[in-house]
Amino acid sequence: MSTVGPSYESPSASPAPSAPSGCPVRSGAAATAVRLSGMTYQQTPMELYRSLRAEHGAVAPVLLDGDVPAWLVLGYAEVSYVTGHDELFARDSRRWNQWDAIPPDWPLLPFVGHQPSVLFTEGDEHRRRAGVITEALEGVDQFELARDCQVIARQLIAEFAGSGRTELMSSYVHLLPMRAVVQMCGMPVKGEDTRRLVDDLRTSLDAEEGEDPVAAYVRVGDRLRQLVKDKRAAPGPDVTSRMVTHGAGLTDEEIVQDLISVIAAAQQPTANWICNTLRLLLTDERFAVNVSGGRLSVGEALNEVLWLDTPTQNFIGRWAVRDTQLGGRHIRAGDCLVLGLAAANTDPLLWPDAYVGAENAAHLSFSSGEHRCPYPAPLLADVMARTAVETLLEHMPDVMLAVEPSELTWRPSVWMRGLAELPVRFSPVVQ
Ligand code: HEM
Repeated sequence: MSTVGPSYESPSASPAPSAPSGCPVRSGAAATAVRLSGMTYQQTPMELYRSLRAEHGAVAPVLLDGDVPAWLVLGYAEVSYVTGHDELFARDSRRWNQWDAIPPDWPLLPFVGHQPSVLFTEGDEHRRRAGVITEALEGVDQFELARDCQVIARQLIAEFAGSGRTELMSSYVHLLPMRAVVQMCGMPVKGEDTRRLVDDLRTSLDAEEGEDPVAAYVRVGDRLRQLVKDKRAAPGPDVTSRMVTHGAGLTDEEIVQDLISVIAAAQQPTANWICNTLRLLLTDERFAVNVSGGRLSVGEALNEVLWLDTPTQNFIGRWAVRDTQLGGRHIRAGDCLVLGLAAANTDPLLWPDAYVGAENAAHLSFSSGEHRCPYPAPLLADVMARTAVETLLEHMPDVMLAVEPSELTWRPSVWMRGLAELPVRFSPVVQ
């Protein structure tokens, strides 16, 4: 998942400044630490994980943007251990022992800078905030969500159906989950206001050249603040109203922060889940002939993507509460650990025969432990992704790539795995 927003709190407000200046580099791993950016990583991360494992084992020293040191946790057992031990590996980034080295314009600040949202809370406060989100999401009727997604899908498809070709990432894949989630949170189905919020959310998460993500983020906050006020006055059957009326008594500002987290956490991973599944269906012979005639189902493709091309490939992260050991490494208090979810899913200790694939859901794509993607969210994401893929295939049964599979490029992100573009062609459909 990803976070939005430039409203970070100063890291100097660290709640646990017990950290010595420990870091992976100082602990002797500097010579071989690997930069987690660059084209090799972006296009073929599996190869990088393999060589990192061969050289470093399950926990590798890496360099984030600006050569800031961190640990990448590659092993399935180690990621499970880190996410299962909050008392050792906690979520509040103000614990970091590297803040002195972080410039104000550091590109990862939107993900790492502390925000007063559920994402960075710990212990009882986390259980309070996450509990409200979980119950609010549990109230979503999955059949209604599927129906809403179908309506949104058909509206989007109608925009390009007659042309015989489109670039699916911008015309379909990103827009569908964004609209569905905004609607789930109680924004009106139609209207200029909702359209503007969807546009601003997209800009704040993923600005194009010339756009101002900070201004868009401020507008998102203002609009959600208004939404929370409206729902306090007149609650309805939506996520925001259930958060507002929940017995935990969250303040308006807490709800706004957590709504932003929910929407951002839902949009990018779900969009990339749709994207990576479509790519698999359109490029892999096991699903070929087109899916209606293929041997494997959309459900199998969705699950295979979570094992092999998971949307949140790396997640930052956790911060060590005190000195400890992990995977044979000495981790110092305040060290940053990146959860290598994609690497963990393909850990050779799980798949000794080099074959990766399972029908079960034991992958770590939704993470695990206290801070994992809250229980109903993966089910809702599944409804959105499945409906998006199936509705597209129903309307365009002969859809195929408009370029060679080798011409598809991955977005240059260490964190999210998704394509830059997905150009397709199909027989034009007269609506
Ligand atoms: C309806 C769609 C979704 C919603 C509403 C949602 C919501 C959230 C929220 C609120 C969190 C923060 C949990 C916390 O800190 O306590 C979270 C975390 C997370 N989500 Fe989701 N999510 C959605 C879809 C997805 C998808 C499709 C994926 C990937 C396949 C995903 C992967 C993750 C991961 C890896 C985390 C981080 C967990 C950690 O810190 O260990 N989410 N999600």
